[in-house]
Amino acid sequence: MAQDVTNLRKFVAPEIVFGAGSRKAVANFASHFGARRVLLVSDPGVAAAGWVFEVEALLLEAGFAVTVFTGVSPNPRVAEVMHGAELYRSAGCDVIVAIGGGSPMDCAKGIGIVSAHGRSILDFEGVDTITLPSPPLILIPTTAGTSADVSQFAIISDPDRRFKFSIISKAVVPDVALIDPEVTQTMDVFLTACTGVDAMVHAVEAFVSTGSGPLTDSHALEAIHLINTHLEPLVANPSDAHLREQVMLGSMQAGLAFSNAILGAVHAMSHSLGGFLDLPHGLCNAMLLDHVVAYNYSACEDRFKRIAETLGIDTRGMTTATVRQRLLGRIAELKRNVGLEKRLGELGVRVDDIPSLSGFALQDPCILTNPRKSSRRDVEAVYEEAL
Ligand SMILES: [Fe+2]
Repeated sequence: MAQDVTNLRKFVAPEIVFGAGSRKAVANFASHFGARRVLLVSDPGVAAAGWVFEVEALLLEAGFAVTVFTGVSPNPRVAEVMHGAELYRSAGCDVIVAIGGGSPMDCAKGIGIVSAHGRSILDFEGVDTITLPSPPLILIPTTAGTSADVSQFAIISDPDRRFKFSIISKAVVPDVALIDPEVTQTMDVFLTACTGVDAMVHAVEAFVSTGSGPLTDSHALEAIHLINTHLEPLVANPSDAHLREQVMLGSMQAGLAFSNAILGAVHAMSHSLGGFLDLPHGLCNAMLLDHVVAYNYSACEDRFKRIAETLGIDTRGMTTATVRQRLLGRIAELKRNVGLEKRLGELGVRVDDIPSLSGFALQDPCILTNPRKSSRRDVEAVYEEAL
């Protein structure tokens, strides 16, 4: 009898070089693709920190023509993707390099999609909508959190709908990720905290996702351990290179887990919030994490118990209720220690906004792998808890 393999999942990842100085291999990798003209995508903050100039110089030295596009907003917009794709076309580029946080990397993924298909990026919302291969893509992350550099996600903001939409496809996994902890040294403490908590949320959501499996679990638990151990000391000592490297490694492990296991309600609700109020993604996640864990707990108590143990809680002899309480306590402590304690109301969310926020969250593909089924009323109640 034929074996049913329909429930087996693939694990996709780019070619990864991890370690201090790995960004300097950018020209080597670009030449592997036989490319001559590079579109270099970034944002004004990363340019001001000097990283764009350095990567451009490395590429020019190696004989590449380089077109620089640094017009990417903190939540990358449809118009920016379309503008970048026009630059790619008019300059005759044949490879895309992006250096930056999630926004330039997601924008670069969008530029690749539009360049391959010659259509609006709005046509590619959702799961597996991409039919043509994108140009070669090399990503160099400057934050330790979003993991766009290893993931099959691109998140684009549509200001007309005040909505961030997700594109999920193995076609947006980059060809190469040069993960270099040295470039995270220029992140300020707030961004370090936001992106580090985002990475922790990736690992937690991946571990309890209905899409989790043995290939993603080990990455998720290792990420939880690394971020739990190193994020608070890093926020207290932001110039410590060893701590930067450990948090970057944790972020990469979380990225490998969530890219393949997908995410859950924190991200569905946070994408909705980020599109509505243009708030930092990691901050949105931090405000929602404990409330979503409390909601989801009963759906997978054993998995949350393993998360609690990985966070250093000795659960021996504890009742389920006590494990739940200690886990929520540790999450609250982590948020407090990295300075992310704000509530949604303090950032401008009003009770009247919740029905529309909930409607958008339920349209986000990340809600599909949340371990507990969520009705509109459930999602509204979690937003209300976080208000
Ligand atoms: Fe995230």
